[in-house]
Amino acid sequence: MELNKLKEIEQSALEDIKNASNSDELTNIRNKYLAKKSELMSLMSLLGTLSLEDRKTFGAAINETRNHISSNLENKFNEIKELELNKKLEEERIDITLPGRNMETGGKNPFFVVRDEIIDIFIGMGYEVADGPEVEQDHYNFELLNIPKDHPARDMQDTFYISENILLRTHTSPVQARTMEKKQGKPIKIICPGKTFRRDDDDATHSHQFAQIEGLVIDKNINIGHLKATLELFAKKMFGEKREIRLRPSYFPFTEPSVEVDITCANCGGKGCSICKDTGYIEILGGGMVHPNVLKMNGYDSEEYSGFAFGIGIERVAMLRYGIDDIRKFYTDDVRFLHQFKKKA
Ligand code: PHE
Repeated sequence: MELNKLKEIEQSALEDIKNASNSDELTNIRNKYLAKKSELMSLMSLLGTLSLEDRKTFGAAINETRNHISSNLENKFNEIKELELNKKLEEERIDITLPGRNMETGGKNPFFVVRDEIIDIFIGMGYEVADGPEVEQDHYNFELLNIPKDHPARDMQDTFYISENILLRTHTSPVQARTMEKKQGKPIKIICPGKTFRRDDDDATHSHQFAQIEGLVIDKNINIGHLKATLELFAKKMFGEKREIRLRPSYFPFTEPSVEVDITCANCGGKGCSICKDTGYIEILGGGMVHPNVLKMNGYDSEEYSGFAFGIGIERVAMLRYGIDDIRKFYTDDVRFLHQFKKKA
C-alpha cells in the first residue's frame, strides 16, 4: 500500500500552501495536487487492483488527504484574498485631507455698489424710492414731459419701439409723470433708479442700455437753491468733501431753467488736465426746475407748486468714482474685472 506516499504528497502540498504568497501560486498548487492528472488522483486508478478491504482503506485515505489539502487551500485562499484586498485598499486610498477646489467668485459689480450708495445718500435726505416700467408708453416717456410728437428733442432720444406708442424708456423721467399722476397734486420727494435704453452705437462711453437715477421734488416754494444744495451734498458724499459743483445752463424740454451739473476734476483738483479736457470740471448729471407745462399737464397748479428734477447716470458716476474707462465692462461680467471690487474678508 501507498499510505506513505499519501503522507508524502500531503506534507509536500501543505508545505507549498504554507509558502504560497498570492492567489496565482495557490491556483498552481491546486492544479498540481488536486487536478485529475495529479499524482494524488492518479493513485485512484490503483484502487481497482486492490482487494475490497484494502480498496476501502486506501480509498478513504485518498479522500481524506484530498479533503485535507483542499480545506487548507481554501483557508489559505481566504487569507490571501483578504491580504490582497487590504493591500489594494491601502494603495487606492483617497486622501481626503487634500484641499478642495475653490469656486472663484468676483466682487459685487461696481454698478450695484454705486447705485446702492446713491440710493442710500438720497434716502438719508428723506427721499422715497419709486418705480416705473422699462417698457413705457410714448405718452409718459415724451408727451407728459413736454415733448410732443414733432418735437426736435426726440431726435436725441431715439429708442427701441415695440409699437407706434410703446417703447423702451429713454430715461427714468417718465416716472416723474407717473408719480405726479399717483400723488394727485400732493407734495413729492422721490428718486427712481432704473434701466434706460437708447438707439446708440456702443463704444467706450455709449451703451444701448444704461441706468439712471431720477430725482423729483415738488412742493410749495421750491427754488433752484434747493436743487443746487441737494446736488452739492450728493457730490460731496459720493466723491469726497473737497469736490465743488457748478451749474451750467442747458436745455431739457421738461425743465426750465435747465442745468448741466459738473464736479471739480479729482485728478487735477480743478486746474485742468487730460481727464477733464483742461476744463477743471467733469459733467455728472442733468437737472432743472420742473417746467410749468409739465406741472400743469400732470395735475399740479404751477402757481402754487414748484419743483426740481434731476437725472444721474449711474454708470457715469461709477466710472468716475473707480476710474473705469469703458462702460461695457459693467455688462460683460469678466471675473478679473469684478475681482477688483471684492470686499476684503
Ligand atoms: N432725463 C434727462 C436725460 O436723460 C435728464 C434729466 C432728468 C434732466 C431730470 C432734467 C431733469 O437726459
